[in-house]
Amino acid sequence: MAARIIDGKALAARVRERIAEEVTALADEGVTPGLAAVIVGDDPASTVYVGMKHRASEQLGMLSRQVELPADTSQDELESVVAELNADEAIDGILVQLPLPDHLDPGRVQELIDPAKDVDALNPYTAGRLAVGDPTFFSCTPYGVLLLLEEAGVETAGARITIVGRSNLVGRPLANMLTLKGHDATVTIAHSRTRDLGEVCREADVVVAAAGRTGLITADMVAPGAVVIDVGTNRDDDGSLVGDVDFDGVSEVASAITPVPGGVGPMTVTMLMQNTLEAARARRGGRA
Ligand code: GUN
Repeated sequence: MAARIIDGKALAARVRERIAEEVTALADEGVTPGLAAVIVGDDPASTVYVGMKHRASEQLGMLSRQVELPADTSQDELESVVAELNADEAIDGILVQLPLPDHLDPGRVQELIDPAKDVDALNPYTAGRLAVGDPTFFSCTPYGVLLLLEEAGVETAGARITIVGRSNLVGRPLANMLTLKGHDATVTIAHSRTRDLGEVCREADVVVAAAGRTGLITADMVAPGAVVIDVGTNRDDDGSLVGDVDFDGVSEVASAITPVPGGVGPMTVTMLMQNTLEAARARRGGRA
């Protein structure tokens, strides 16, 4: 039986409609949420992603500032830019697009972002708050995965969820979110050193593939009826975007699956908008 396609594009459009309404309501109170995106150098993928974030925030009626710095920007210069944005009253959310050029230290930069403006949720303080079960912001991609699971009708409480990938951007924060009280999943984090990845995935009601390896998850690794979320954003030989999941094969086994493109991707940018809205509310009088 062919799996149901979980349409991230349609879900993202619905969530954005709701965010736009909330931005309009805030405007009546004289508040415009402001997002600043910092990009260093001209990595083509990063340029595309930052452009998408810029357009999305403008379309939703937010203030959008794009700070483009040359590839030879020094650590001190980048840190000064972050400090200025921290102090800028018009800016509610700050993100520094990754990867940075090799001579720059991303961890140090992320640590400097004011936690109240850390809409990317990559500051160790923000990650730590989530890890101790008292979250401030949710990282954008995992936050999008939560909504996609809800959209697919997955009851996370008690579900066995295998996440393939242990990155700070996706795997680790997603595991922390899914084990929060209220989500209550039983989570396994698999990674490149996991023995018998197929067996670990076959035990799961939900497989989240976030390893960054084209075609890693094949039909024989998925239990019949499982839900599969593909976070992969890889390029194949002809340059087109592909995920970590063998979509055609796994669709024959799973009950629901996200496509690439059109699954997780549109949700990532949308949840950044949600976090910016939440930051604007929180900075101007208590958490929403
Ligand atoms: N590079 C790839 N994904 C992301 C993201 O979610 N945030 C940032 N800052 N950089 C990224």
